[in-house]
Amino acid sequence: MLRLERDLSAPPAIPEAGIAAVETVLRSGWLHRYGETMGDASEASLLEAEFASMLGSRYVVAVNSCGSAMFLALLCTGIKPGDRVLMNAFTLAPVPGAVAHAGAEHVLVEVTPDLVTDLDDLAGKAEASGARHLLLSHMRGHIADMGKLMRLCDRLGITVIEDCAHTMGASWAGRPTGRFGRVGCFSLQAYKHVNAGEGGLLATDDPDVAARAVLYSGSYMLYGQHRVRPDEATFERWRDVTPNYSLRMSNLVAAAARPQLPLLAERARIWNDRYGRLAVALSALPGLRLPQRPQEEEFVQSSIQFAVSGMRDAQFSAFLERCRARGVYLKWFGAKQAAGYTSVSAQWGFLRDPYTPPATAEVLERLCDMRIPLTLTEAECGTIAAIIGEELARRSEA
Ligand SMILES: Cc1ncc(COP(=O)(O)O)c(C=O)c1O
Repeated sequence: MLRLERDLSAPPAIPEAGIAAVETVLRSGWLHRYGETMGDASEASLLEAEFASMLGSRYVVAVNSCGSAMFLALLCTGIKPGDRVLMNAFTLAPVPGAVAHAGAEHVLVEVTPDLVTDLDDLAGKAEASGARHLLLSHMRGHIADMGKLMRLCDRLGITVIEDCAHTMGASWAGRPTGRFGRVGCFSLQAYKHVNAGEGGLLATDDPDVAARAVLYSGSYMLYGQHRVRPDEATFERWRDVTPNYSLRMSNLVAAAARPQLPLLAERARIWNDRYGRLAVALSALPGLRLPQRPQEEEFVQSSIQFAVSGMRDAQFSAFLERCRARGVYLKWFGAKQAAGYTSVSAQWGFLRDPYTPPATAEVLERLCDMRIPLTLTEAECGTIAAIIGEELARRSEA
């Protein structure tokens, strides 16, 4: 019986240049990004400058995770405890976690079968709730119509914060994600497009947001060691009234990340090639639907999602089990319990009223998710589609 001999969960390897840079940092002992005599050329400071130039953003602040970047983005754009924050209901736990961390209340917005935020529901929920912040996840790399979304949010006076954990290197109509909202938040966690194990990057053009993020992240008043930074007068406004939350990025993380930035374009080419092959083969299978993707969306697809129809719960679980037994590890967003990087909002018991909005519940009910490791070969894409096809055909055996 055909079996996939590839660990689909393997993260991108750290290039030799990253390993050498990490070793240099370790040997120097300068793991912490600040020091009385440091200057502005620490690994963390250089990463900020390089990422800002790559993205076209005025400022970038390096922190210890994307979750921290989102939390700080909420605080720095004025969220106070009890305020409401709109967020698409299809996302991952760190996103409602950031809202909870800020002491704010979530307002869940529906997603469409194409896995993007439903703009009509967004307009309705914004008006009904009075929320004036949107924490928008480009979840699993799927980008909503950003032209329409920004026009809507501008009209309603909504501040947009983009969660670009899954879209580093991706664009909508030629504009990179993270450049539409007031703040863009990126992740360097192992499964992301740049793998430094952990880490987050907060990008903004707003000097007050940038200065506050630096101070909150814990700069010990050494903010002059940030190569890309707002002017002194901006820091003066905030320096004595901003607590230090110690959410800094370590130089070790930055050293592992920096040499990966120039590799992004080639990684995107490989991921999108494998995604394209899988998408063509899987779309041909009966009862299986992939999200439709508009031309303006220039994605970087390091995972693939598809919905399966016509199976009861037991049949669907058995289908997933059989695929997994043959090496094709599929995750299930609609599973009854949160497990292994998946959950639905009804399972976020820390919310005041955990629930999944109805249209999103339907979308997620039979939604499968599979990682695409950079090492996946063209032939293995065919093997995966064949295994899924065979197991779909056996659906009646459950
Ligand atoms: C959609 C989404 N947003 C944000 C994050 C947070 O990233 P981090 O783990 O760097 O906090 C993740 C992490 O997997 C994610 O999947």
